[in-house]
Amino acid sequence: MNNNTDRIIIFDTTLRDGEQCPGATLNIDEKLAIAKQLARLGVDVIEAGFAFASPGDFAAVSKIAQTVGTENGPIICSLARAKHEDIKAAAEAIKDAAKGRIHTFIATSDIHLKYKLKKTRAEVLAIAEEMVAYAKSFTNDVEFSPEDAGRSDPEFLYEVLEKAIAAGATTVNIPDTVGYTTPSEFGAIIKGIKENVPNIDQAIISVHGHNDLGLAVANFLEAVKNGARQLECTINGIGERAGNAALEELVMALHVRRQYFNPFFGRPIDAEESLTNIDTRQIYKTSRLVSNLTGMLVQPNKAIVGANAFAHESGIHQDGVLKNKLTYEIMDAQLIGLNDNQIVLGKHSGRNAFRTRLKELGYELSEVDLNKAFVRFKEVADKKKEITDWDLEALVNDEIQQTPDLFKLELVQISCGDRSRPTATVTIRTPDGQELTDAAIGTGPVDAIYKAINRVTNVPNQLIEFSVQSVTAGIDAIGEVTIRLSHEGRVYSGHAANTDIIVASAQAYVNALNRLYVIQQQEQQTQLVTQNA
Ligand code: KIV
Ligand code: ZN
Repeated sequence: MNNNTDRIIIFDTTLRDGEQCPGATLNIDEKLAIAKQLARLGVDVIEAGFAFASPGDFAAVSKIAQTVGTENGPIICSLARAKHEDIKAAAEAIKDAAKGRIHTFIATSDIHLKYKLKKTRAEVLAIAEEMVAYAKSFTNDVEFSPEDAGRSDPEFLYEVLEKAIAAGATTVNIPDTVGYTTPSEFGAIIKGIKENVPNIDQAIISVHGHNDLGLAVANFLEAVKNGARQLECTINGIGERAGNAALEELVMALHVRRQYFNPFFGRPIDAEESLTNIDTRQIYKTSRLVSNLTGMLVQPNKAIVGANAFAHESGIHQDGVLKNKLTYEIMDAQLIGLNDNQIVLGKHSGRNAFRTRLKELGYELSEVDLNKAFVRFKEVADKKKEITDWDLEALVNDEIQQTPDLFKLELVQISCGDRSRPTATVTIRTPDGQELTDAAIGTGPVDAIYKAINRVTNVPNQLIEFSVQSVTAGIDAIGEVTIRLSHEGRVYSGHAANTDIIVASAQAYVNALNRLYVIQQQEQQTQLVTQNA
């Protein structure tokens, strides 16, 4: 193998590192929906999770390996610490993928060795070598990461990488775990590795980086110039702390500025061919899906996918754009699929048209889910004349998030106005099948609803964020509500879409409470098992 591939490999870690950010926890159906969309987007590798971390993580990696890891699909990867039990679980979880990868890691910086691992350099070197060889006994495709490489002694880093490659690593990933390096420093690390690791031509150099100083994307682009050929990134840049390098920013930088990057790939400066395999028209849709399912909102001024990324407010800019788009626009919104929001269906559209359009959008629902989504579609179509692709996606994503066996909102009624005290009545079906009704007064309608729901469900929590966005323009638009609540230091998100934002607010809250409730139940079960052991 040669590390100088003629294009960039996109390794998406939204479902692993991305899911590590507070409140972004996804259930298995949500993970599967994201994995399917990542495959449509054209990513080369999906890091589907950390199989050993929990039975839920294992099940999700395994399901994605079976469903999305097809012959023509992406490589499905599981993370594993450099430990036998982790690697074994990863191997088991990815075994049904046509192309499976194990990604094993151990820290190499002195600070991690001394305080976290309490191991010497010699010990870490031996573990890295042994665990890569162990992973190799399950699959040919093994990735090794020296965690905190950005703060590791370069000489030790070279030694570890050489041993890992000799033991069978086909990709060596260089993480800037704490987002500490600057672009020129990070580029120099990659250059140093190319020049000082004798067997580096037998592996692909990958990079992984966090955005603590807002430099992750810039660092990666500098790494590309110095020979990195795999980029580990997440949709919307979500991830641990300040997040990871954002996929959409990297892909569009390499696309819009390909004349600048082409020479680093040995291509003629004006070569048109893309530097990645990404179908850029899927970017906007993927961004919305991830934001909806994780509850991580995209800031309006976010590059590429933020609501204002293609909006021109100042008169001078608007005037320029009207005369010639190129005056103030470096890329067309169409390139990321921003304008792909056709009016497709209406009140009289039947099941077949509904199913066909969903299929065209990439959603293949089971008969049961299709029926449920169709009922929702008819309700919306009664209120809203024209249904667009984004409306359809909002409805289907909403269905994916429902957890039928837990708390279910059966009714919400509100009375409010400038002469009355906002009062809400709710009926909730509880996990044990009872239908309970209660009412509450609040400072506003949403406050009243949340108080009433709390009286019925009795799940302690604190609301920390509430936001409403409309899916499309117009007075009859579907409203999407995203909330985040916390309990005992953990954050849970909830999301719902409805033409009535009061109903969406109630559903989003119940959705978040269900996530909290599931975790609480799991923890109680674990406590019982530990007590009885
Ligand atoms: O940030 C990091 O170092 C990681 C590794 C596990 C690759 O996520
Ligand atoms: Zn990371």
